[in-house]
Amino acid sequence: MAAKLRLDGKVAIVTGGASGIGEATARLFAAHGAAVIIADVNDSLALSVAATIPGCSFVHCDVRDELQISAVVRRAVETHGRLDVMFSNAGVLGSTTGYAAAAEENDVVVIGGGPGGYVAAIKAAQLGLKTTCIEKRGALGGTCLNVGCIPSKALLHSSHMYHEAKHAFASHGVKFSHLEIDLPAMMAQKDKAVSGLTRGIEGLFKKNKINYVKGYGKLTSPSEVSVDTLDGGNTIVKGKSIIIATGSDVKSLPGITIDEKKIVSSTGALSLEEIPKKLIVIGAGYIGLEMGSVWGRLGSEVTVVEFAPDIVPTMDGEVRKQFQRMLEKQKMKFILKTKVVNVEDSGDGVKLTLEPAAGGEQSTLEADVVLVSAGRIPFTAGLGLEKIGVETDKAGRIPVNKKFMTNVPGVYAIGDVIPGPMLAHKAEEDGVACVEFIAGKEGHVDYDTVPGVVYTHPEAAYVGKTEEQVKALGVAYRVGKFPFLANSRAKAIDDAEGIVKIIAEKETDKILGVHIMAPNAGELIHEAVLALQYGASSEDIARTCHAHPTMSEAVKEAAMATYDKPIHI
Ligand SMILES: Cc1cc2nc3c(=O)[nH]c(=O)nc-3n(C[C@H](O)[C@H](O)[C@H](O)COP(=O)(O)OP(=O)(O)OC[C@H]3O[C@@H](n4cnc5c(N)ncnc54)[C@H](O)[C@@H]3O)c2cc1C
Ligand SMILES: NC(=O)c1ccc[n+]([C@@H]2O[C@H](COP(=O)([O-])OP(=O)(O)OC[C@H]3O[C@@H](n4cnc5c(N)ncnc54)[C@H](O)[C@@H]3O)[C@@H](O)[C@H]2O)c1
Repeated sequence: MAAKLRLDGKVAIVTGGASGIGEATARLFAAHGAAVIIADVNDSLALSVAATIPGCSFVHCDVRDELQISAVVRRAVETHGRLDVMFSNAGVLGSTTGYAAAAEENDVVVIGGGPGGYVAAIKAAQLGLKTTCIEKRGALGGTCLNVGCIPSKALLHSSHMYHEAKHAFASHGVKFSHLEIDLPAMMAQKDKAVSGLTRGIEGLFKKNKINYVKGYGKLTSPSEVSVDTLDGGNTIVKGKSIIIATGSDVKSLPGITIDEKKIVSSTGALSLEEIPKKLIVIGAGYIGLEMGSVWGRLGSEVTVVEFAPDIVPTMDGEVRKQFQRMLEKQKMKFILKTKVVNVEDSGDGVKLTLEPAAGGEQSTLEADVVLVSAGRIPFTAGLGLEKIGVETDKAGRIPVNKKFMTNVPGVYAIGDVIPGPMLAHKAEEDGVACVEFIAGKEGHVDYDTVPGVVYTHPEAAYVGKTEEQVKALGVAYRVGKFPFLANSRAKAIDDAEGIVKIIAEKETDKILGVHIMAPNAGELIHEAVLALQYGASSEDIARTCHAHPTMSEAVKEAAMATYDKPIHI
């Protein structure tokens, strides 16, 4: 190749010339007779490289800035009268080494590009802070966009459409002669949603001029991260403040090896190639009920084994009971107060050994696929926390103060890797508040008003305290309830299973908790979140005009039932 290269008398610009590849290219061009201009943001390094190459000059240029690129090109033409070659070794968004700016000091460096990390990076850039985000998976959006919230909601929606077509359309007078599932097409729609959204975040990074480094970050000091880049190289990223947003990973159970084929985590359950005849789910939490619903709707026989006496232990007891009944009506089976002590490949399928939670005689169950959804654990492997002295608690989480700072000054942590609910919206709130503190402003996240939603059908959503928690606190309270069976919109669309339950302090009527089971509970809950945020009373909601006919009217009626009487029941 080199022998054919003839550049005598020509003029070449090499962007990112201070890097290994850039320097080698500049040398090669110069050796073949070209006048070379190195364009780079790293002035000192680029200058020293240029000084060692005959006929080579240096010009400062941040390739993220189109104006700076045009200025460099104009200058080359003015100085040399021509420009023949432009070798771009920096500035391609998503290049594995990121921009050449990585070697410069940043105001903020974020490790992890999930909902915590990418939102923190965007907010930091919006506040005028020079920001780099490091992500190891090759795509932004973290667990949530790639293997969590988004793909699971895509499959929940698709499987709900199939289930409705099979079981509900006829009663609405919609009939057809043939219905079938095209699983690859369902998976393709899910993958399209994921890739569109992750690319969208790359676009937001570009818009906000965030430096994106694809690779595995490791803290080498409180202001420096060594990144093994996905292309096999290594780069050092420096920052005045470092935010750890490395999220969480699947919690396996002792003696169980997840193979993502027959013994799957949520990630495998999002990509099964066939609909299992029998699916056993370990854990009746968010993931178990959502993914159990997906495969149950598509035809699997689903059995959920749960260690605790109840499903979703964080939910209000009364609503939870109705929720469980509703899932049982959909043919989901529950084995409660039972732990799974062993799972083994049995040839065609898997064999599980169960034991009562309180101890006792063991029993066995067989299935085609088993989903391990017994919780998630903070992910800090290979991060070098011990090297710089960042403490973790017994659960592996990183404790932080009110400003999200760890015990090491200048090192912050947010999202699933710190204590608090493991939810995407909570991670995002952490990210914004953390960066606001770093920028010298005030930030705030109220963990008591973080809503939780289980996206089954109907959905179950809640915010604030459960009745059990209020009772345990010894607070005198009132409860108001309203069933969707008495809501005109729910009746009109023949989807009236569910309830709104409001708990308010007896003396002041201040709302303490709201629990909703309804087809769109995940949307309805935000009226309650706002009410709790502003310290509203149930009468405040009850006296607020709600459009008719809407499901939201059930929230208003439950509020009326809390401080006085509802109208429609
Ligand atoms: C199946 C499933 C469904 C879910 N559904 C919902 C839902 O509907 N709603 C909801 O609110 N939450 C949901 N969650 C939870 C939600 O995904 C998490 O709470 C959220 O993603 C946490 O965000 P995070 O930024 O803290 O961490 P993550 O999203 O886990 O992102 C951390 C990122 O850091 C990267 N990383 C880790 N270590 C390094 C390193 N050393 N160097 C570089 N990069 C690193 C990882 O690759 C990852 O991309 C779901 C989770 C699962 C598994
Ligand atoms: N809709 C959402 O917001 C959503 C959806 C999915 C996941 N998530 C998040 O992801 C996290 C992880 O979800 P998850 O469902 O894995 O955890 P989870 O904590 O919600 O539920 C795990 C369940 O497994 C049970 N369990 C633990 N060990 C067991 C054993 N040996 N045998 C039987 N049961 C056992 C626990 O008692 C618990 O009920 C959740 O904390 C949640 O915050 C949220």
